[in-house]
Amino acid sequence: MNFIEERIVKDGIIKSGNVLKVDSFLNHQMDINLMEEIGREFKRRFSDVCVSKVMTIEASGIGIAAFVAKEFGVPLVFAKKSKSINVDGEMFVAEVESFTHKNKNQVIVSKKFLHEGEHILIIDDFLANGCALQGLISIAESAGAKVEGCGIVIEKGFQIGGRVIRNMGYRVESLAIIDAMDAEAGTIDFRAQD
Ligand code: G4P
Repeated sequence: MNFIEERIVKDGIIKSGNVLKVDSFLNHQMDINLMEEIGREFKRRFSDVCVSKVMTIEASGIGIAAFVAKEFGVPLVFAKKSKSINVDGEMFVAEVESFTHKNKNQVIVSKKFLHEGEHILIIDDFLANGCALQGLISIAESAGAKVEGCGIVIEKGFQIGGRVIRNMGYRVESLAIIDAMDAEAGTIDFRAQD
């Protein structure tokens, strides 16, 4: 098991409905030493690509992506979730549906912070249905930027997001891929990775 898988086994809590709570170390309280390690691991995995900007979506992605951006020595820009339909022309906009929360958000990034020709590494905490990632990809591409890859801390391999994004031709590196989890038995099956 790698360091993320070990931490999930140690501190993750499996809830009914295939939800994994990792709020003691990843997306509510954050273990900063772990964040540093995550930053270094994504730098290692994407060492072969040119990255000019890291991109994520609020809220939980920001803390993690900050450590990745620090490793690459590049800025981080995060997409904001906006309820407003009146976003002006100075914004790139994508519609993101959350299956978990059963709502829709417009996500926006200012045109000031995303430009044609940039090389984007997208980072997020979870990949489930992939809606958030698709929204970020669409924003990056409407700016004329190139998505070099997506780095995910925990991919729920039994949901469709990973397959959809990879089938679209994007490189997705997930530190842990969960193929199955059982709330009653408290067991998690991780996909074997190189
Ligand atoms: P997606 O992010 O892949 O599109 O999938 P989905 O619409 O299903 O996820 C909606 C939200 O729920 C996302 O956060 C996602 O990170 C989170 N999520 C999905 N599965 C799990 C899980 O098993 N455990 C936890 N802890 N979160 C999960 P979000 O709405 O963008 O919220 P936030 O970043 O503001 O916290």
